[in-house]
Amino acid sequence: MQAKGNYEAGKAKSTTCAGCHGAEGVSTVPSFPTLAGQHRDYIYHSLKDYKSGKRSNPIMAGQVQTLSDADMLDLALFFSKQKGLILKY
Ligand code: HEC
Repeated sequence: MQAKGNYEAGKAKSTTCAGCHGAEGVSTVPSFPTLAGQHRDYIYHSLKDYKSGKRSNPIMAGQVQTLSDADMLDLALFFSKQKGLILKY
């Protein structure tokens, strides 16, 4: 991965995602996945795959069309740093 993304820029861009995924990426609606704490690379590649059509979902496809690669890196960094699900082993 070339750049690592910018946290503050990701935070600013995340407002459009908050309606579905929650303000800090913790979704309160079961049909929308929680993004908080997910791995940065996973989020980044998911966004790229939605844009390329490799991962097909009509809702997310509409969300990512205007995102640049830098936007995706920023968003992935921001959401990966939020407190998310804690797994018990
Ligand atoms: C209108 C509601 C909506 C908005 C707004 C929205 N999403 Fe989503 N998002 C969804 C839904 C529904 C899914 C599940 C799609 C699927 O099953 O692939 C999803 C899935 C995702 C996933 C994959 C999660 C996983 O666990 O695999 C990521 C990453 C993601 N969204 C990021 C974003 C980002 C970043 C934004 C803002 C630019 C955003 N979403 C805006 C509804 C939304």
